[in-house]
Amino acid sequence: MEGFTINIEKKQFQNDLVNWFHEEKRDLPWRRTADPYQIWISEIMLQQTRVDTVIPYYKRFVERFPTLRDLANADEEILLKQWEGLGYYSRARNLQAGVKEVAEKYGGKVPDSRKEISALKGVGPYTAGAVLSIAYGLPEHAVDGNVMRVLSRILLIDEDIAKPKTRKVFEEAVTELISHEDPSAFNQGLMELGALICTPTSPKCLLCPVREHCAAFHEGRQNELPVKTKAKAGKAVDYAMVAIRSGESLLMEKRPSKGLLANMWQFPMAELPASTETAEVEELLSEQFKGTVENAEKITSFKHVFSHLTWNVDGFIAEGKDLQIPENMKWVNAAEMELLPIAGPVQKMKTALKSRGDV
Ligand code: ADE
Repeated sequence: MEGFTINIEKKQFQNDLVNWFHEEKRDLPWRRTADPYQIWISEIMLQQTRVDTVIPYYKRFVERFPTLRDLANADEEILLKQWEGLGYYSRARNLQAGVKEVAEKYGGKVPDSRKEISALKGVGPYTAGAVLSIAYGLPEHAVDGNVMRVLSRILLIDEDIAKPKTRKVFEEAVTELISHEDPSAFNQGLMELGALICTPTSPKCLLCPVREHCAAFHEGRQNELPVKTKAKAGKAVDYAMVAIRSGESLLMEKRPSKGLLANMWQFPMAELPASTETAEVEELLSEQFKGTVENAEKITSFKHVFSHLTWNVDGFIAEGKDLQIPENMKWVNAAEMELLPIAGPVQKMKTALKSRGDV
């Protein structure tokens, strides 16, 4: 791995960053608590998700599960319902698994060493450092994509931030630079700089509190950094998603407990080529459920993009009679459906059904 040299006035840089953070920081709900458990929740929610989106979820979540033990003891379906719409649902399941470990192994106190906290389910190097610095005031690095962008410019580091190994370079840089007087404000200052000033495009260098320390600014190269190769496009899969009605009820299916959207609920789905005829959909489902599925009608088509996968979905409504359904399926009425955790692509189907008055 390439080395890097830190050619800045460390003390002055720390002061400029930390003072700016204390003056300009946004008033965010997780900045009003010192509870490591609540800070942990915020950092998990903020991964891959924008601050504005997270705020209402965070508030509802800590109201519903105010203490670590409340979350440790929560029913998984209620937890997933709280997370509904945030995406990356394994974050919620892993968070609960980590919280349970803390309840059982550490008497409910989030550990304050990198070794112990990193061993918890769902806690990677970023989350570990964020909780240790923000909640416990420890001088630990917390490097995510935003921090890499900021530091790549300040220190003129031109390694590809899309490569997993590159993060180590930045962790070393933070370890070298971090304020030992106020590690929390230092790390959050880097995050805040990335959010407010040192943005991916059109960074607002003239407003930047540390521009004097910034090598990219001095060389006019802020728009060339960070170096980030494009991820290759994920694969696409075609599905038929079918809302099967019987009287006032619709058939719902719980996904397997492993893999994509684990334990979330959906309308029954089958991998079928786009534009499969309704007659064929009826036939396949009748066979699958050893009964009669009829009057199928295509009501929508949509695409849903996950990080590494795209679903192309044709949505149908149909009627079912005398169906034998497996254990992971159940008939629900409209009120019961509102209690089930349902992920984004399935919400699109629900919206199509709602607009027709079908749910
Ligand atoms: N992004 C990740 N962690 C954050 C935090 N604590 N505050 C604001 N944005 C963040």
